[in-house]
Amino acid sequence: MNPEPQVIAISAAADHLGRPVAFQGWVRRKRSSGKIRFLILRDGTGIVQGILDTGKAGAETVQAFDQLTVETSLRVTGILQADSRAPGGVELEIRTIRIFQIAEDFPITPKEHGTAFLMAHRHLWLRSSRQQAIQRIRHELSREIRNFLNARDFIELDAPILTANACEGTSTLFETRYFDQGSAYLSQSGQLYMEAGAMAFGRVYCFGPAFRAEKSKTRRHLTEFWMVEPEWAFGDLEAVMSLVEDLVIQLVRRTLEFRLPELELLERDLTGLKCVAAPFPRLSYSEAVATLQDKGFPLSFGDDLGGDEETALASLYDRPVFIHRYPAACKAFYMKQDPADPRLVLNMDLLAPEGYGEIVGGSQREDDLQVLRKRLAAQGLAEAELDWYLDLRRYGSVPHGGFGLGLERVVAWICGLAHVREAIPFPRTLYRLYP
Ligand code: 4AD
Ligand code: MG
Repeated sequence: MNPEPQVIAISAAADHLGRPVAFQGWVRRKRSSGKIRFLILRDGTGIVQGILDTGKAGAETVQAFDQLTVETSLRVTGILQADSRAPGGVELEIRTIRIFQIAEDFPITPKEHGTAFLMAHRHLWLRSSRQQAIQRIRHELSREIRNFLNARDFIELDAPILTANACEGTSTLFETRYFDQGSAYLSQSGQLYMEAGAMAFGRVYCFGPAFRAEKSKTRRHLTEFWMVEPEWAFGDLEAVMSLVEDLVIQLVRRTLEFRLPELELLERDLTGLKCVAAPFPRLSYSEAVATLQDKGFPLSFGDDLGGDEETALASLYDRPVFIHRYPAACKAFYMKQDPADPRLVLNMDLLAPEGYGEIVGGSQREDDLQVLRKRLAAQGLAEAELDWYLDLRRYGSVPHGGFGLGLERVVAWICGLAHVREAIPFPRTLYRLYP
């Protein structure tokens, strides 16, 4: 008796030519041509074609094959052969088929489905090649973000999700009861905690979910998204922009290097991505407003830049562009006042090309206790809840800064997606909490 052949990943098939192997996975599709049956099998690492000659195969195997439906789970064994016509250049001559479960009629078919239907079947839609390519790129980006920061001596410091206060404005908080202590809020950003971390460890980052109870229905907004937030002591606005630039360049290069098959599957036009190189243009908010006014936008000093303004500015460049030094009034309380012009803060947004909007927001932080208190008061925020944060300005305050990079926005840009909802496995939006 032959022992059961070893189960291998489809991605490793080319290393096992001429040998008996087993694959475990799901049926993508099947077809017949005379006495020959073809099976396309996927296992999450790739797809492989199996071939069954009904003239030669055992009756049991042929019977099992004929029961297979789309997404039936199975183990197949056979001999791997090189075949230039088959996907991946290899083909399995099927010997045995063991079915785990015969799938019911799979709701997602090769015909066109609307987005609402696909989103309601997100748990099944993730099995498609396109969704897998996106999530593999997302995985690559997460890993590369950590590699980049770890190589620069940042330590990952996890921030709490349940918090007592707002970080990015009180209007977009998800509130929940917290025992007898009143309300807790789902974190909008780990930044304030990272500032404490920076004073303890020098360089830290958190990488986790952030929550915004936004009523926005744009293609750039989720209510739950993932953000990496590096924060470091003695970093000024220049240092923040320079680290963002290095990080974004590395993310694009590594994706082009390691995930080219996925980008090709997504039919991503690579021209724009290949242009991403230093230096990124740096435009002050005042220059940005003047540029937009020239283009006919009815904008005046003090207005925040919306999605259309961002798209118009970004379209002037072939690479991401920094907009820095916004008016204090339209930005968060923690941003440091510009010593050269107290109306402004030392912040920056990085706008991606091709209409993907703001992918990074960051700033130097206000390190002066009295100025910070005034900023809190001006924004109507209670000092008591943030007393711990004020402590960071009482005990060895230093210049420091950091930024937040939104993972889904970067995935959407690099993959060329029409909407950020495809950039996250299970999107949460104004209208979607299921599945
Ligand atoms: O500009 P934001 O709100 O900045 C902060 O939260 C700072 N506390 C970050 C920091 O300095 N540590 O958000 C940062 C980034 C945005 O540039 C965007 O990429 C992403 O997070 N983002 C969103 N992504 C998807 N859906 C939303 N609703 C988002 N809001 C922000
Ligand atoms: Mg922002």
